[in-house]
Amino acid sequence: MDHRTFYVTTPIYYVNDKPHIGHAYTTILADVLAGYHRLAGDPTYFLTGTDEHGQKVQRAAEQAGMTAQEQADATVVHFQRLWERLGITHDDFIRTTEGRHKRVVQACLQDLFDRGEIYRAEYDGWYDVTSETFVTEKDLPEGKKPEDLPNIVRIKEANYFFKMSQYQAWLVDYIQTHQDFIQPEFRRNETLGFLRKPLQDLCISRPKSRLAWGIELPFDSQYVCYVWFDALVNYISAIGYRGDEAMFSKWWPAVHLIGKDILTTHTVYWPTMLKALGVPQPRTVFAHGWWLFGDAKMSKSLGNVVNPMDMIDRFGVDAFRYFLMAEMIPGQDASFSEDGFVRRYNADLANDLGNLLNRVTNMTRRFCDGKVPAPPAGLMEHPERLDAAAREVRETVLSAVERLFAHIEAYRIDLGLSELLSAVKRVNKYLEEKQPWTLARQPDQTDLHVCLYVSAEALRILSQCLHPVMPAKMDALRAALGLRGPCTPAELRVFGMFPAGRDVQEPGALFPRVERVVPSSQAEAAVTTEAPKPVTPASPPAAAAAAPVGVATIEFTDFQKVKLKTARIVSAEKVAGADKLLKLQIEIGGETRQIVAGIAQHYQPEELPGRLIVVVANMKPAKIRGVESNGMLLAASAGGKLRLVSADPEIGSGADVK
Ligand code: MSP
Repeated sequence: MDHRTFYVTTPIYYVNDKPHIGHAYTTILADVLAGYHRLAGDPTYFLTGTDEHGQKVQRAAEQAGMTAQEQADATVVHFQRLWERLGITHDDFIRTTEGRHKRVVQACLQDLFDRGEIYRAEYDGWYDVTSETFVTEKDLPEGKKPEDLPNIVRIKEANYFFKMSQYQAWLVDYIQTHQDFIQPEFRRNETLGFLRKPLQDLCISRPKSRLAWGIELPFDSQYVCYVWFDALVNYISAIGYRGDEAMFSKWWPAVHLIGKDILTTHTVYWPTMLKALGVPQPRTVFAHGWWLFGDAKMSKSLGNVVNPMDMIDRFGVDAFRYFLMAEMIPGQDASFSEDGFVRRYNADLANDLGNLLNRVTNMTRRFCDGKVPAPPAGLMEHPERLDAAAREVRETVLSAVERLFAHIEAYRIDLGLSELLSAVKRVNKYLEEKQPWTLARQPDQTDLHVCLYVSAEALRILSQCLHPVMPAKMDALRAALGLRGPCTPAELRVFGMFPAGRDVQEPGALFPRVERVVPSSQAEAAVTTEAPKPVTPASPPAAAAAAPVGVATIEFTDFQKVKLKTARIVSAEKVAGADKLLKLQIEIGGETRQIVAGIAQHYQPEELPGRLIVVVANMKPAKIRGVESNGMLLAASAGGKLRLVSADPEIGSGADVK
């Protein structure tokens, strides 16, 4: 990536209501892109803010019994608080009611008026009272006439118009010759499609008699400025246009992130306004899709609006940021579901990433006095001397970094994250292949040291690459590895810079698993044996809830005979010809064992590696369907559901369960 300045903006949000997940998404996306550009060493500026004028805000204020300014002042706080909570790192927050913005809007209006780009005319035509916009028949739904629609009324009034129509041919040509201008490509085609019909001039005034809440036109005090003409100017007023030329020329042109519903204002109105003002065009307007709830649009009246604050309270800020970034293909719609959230969280963060950190820190503490061991001198400078597995880890990590930055350039953060998570998986697999717990028993510890060093080094690079998405968690992860501060862009691309000898810390549960199942009051303790049958509870749940859990009492000495231990699942696969059985390789404090468990109808094999479970460690070995089983895992079952009994990852594998 070359070191270009990167100026990124979000839409400025209307202060008629509190923020929802759609607002949070764009702002997090901007924050993450800004973070990656900072990480790459690009000078970066990130602007967000609020759109405070116009009909929407005026109407909300009336309903709340406040003045429009009071409404704006009360609502802007919700946005500011949410951004603070989400760890948003914007450089500026602009409100369109601020003097610094109003002055620039008025200067632009006056300039355009003086140069004949704005003219006064009698408007006689159709007006949409819902969206407060002037419409022509071509704007109406297919086959509808204005007379059919109650929100379309005939209106006759004097207004001011911006000569937008004269820029139509220029705009079409500009879009066609600047591939990066509107993204993704299908949105570019959408704008070009819109421009196939004749472009009208844009009415940029509202008579105060109809709407007083806006910026007064400098050349006619009877009018205020149309809210979009005011709002779009925020992107230049905030960075010193007509005030601080040095600042303005440092940052402009911008990358505008927007939702697909505001494509026309950003790719038709705004470019023609800039053209008339003599300002260069934005670098890119990137339109993302909508977050849907299931298949439905989120709306207050349907009561399906996802409140970002609730999600953060329940799952944490970084998990929420990660989910939004990983789940949506920028440009397309995405569907939000709690189930999807929990599934992705558990798979990517709890199992893959959290588990990798736990393994590296636990084994470093257990086998290397808690210090990341140094590899043999000169080895990392000669990767060809690494064994094939370590070389593959190194290459996977370094190529994930390169691909990540290429995906960021293409606004495909989802693909960038999946590269990083694949690399995390590769490192987990490396540990399974190398079995440091076995290497630790060899008299020569070199292989153990290389293995733990390579894994810690992979985590150093991958955690830095994940930092823009999960800043707080990655700081914690890095602190647990003994790393201090972020690394430089160059240090991201060199494998072998981990400062060996640092003390690792107990990481705690970085991403504790979230169970999305049965309310605990219904769960009846049950044990899954290696046999397929006992998975089903002995009695139906209703009876089980009413009856005492145990059927017969036992002596403490009986219980003492059972050796329960924590174990880490290393891998899992189906047993051929037995649809209820999975064959698991588990690690119990450095020892690997195979067990067979009747859980195949409740878990997919790929969900399991990395989990810390509880097993009966002193079961007599048995053969189940011809497959050897050396132990038995514990699970809870109720109402036909079955979930593994799991232990707090902090304790690691091999601990006694009493
Ligand atoms: N004030 C204008 C923008 C002016 S920019 C010069 C505005 N504000 S808004 O608050 O209504 O919407 C802001 C953004 O939120 C839009 O980009 C819109 O697409 C986005 N979203 C609103 N609901 C959304 C989803 N459900 N999903 C994703 N984004 C959506 O428009």
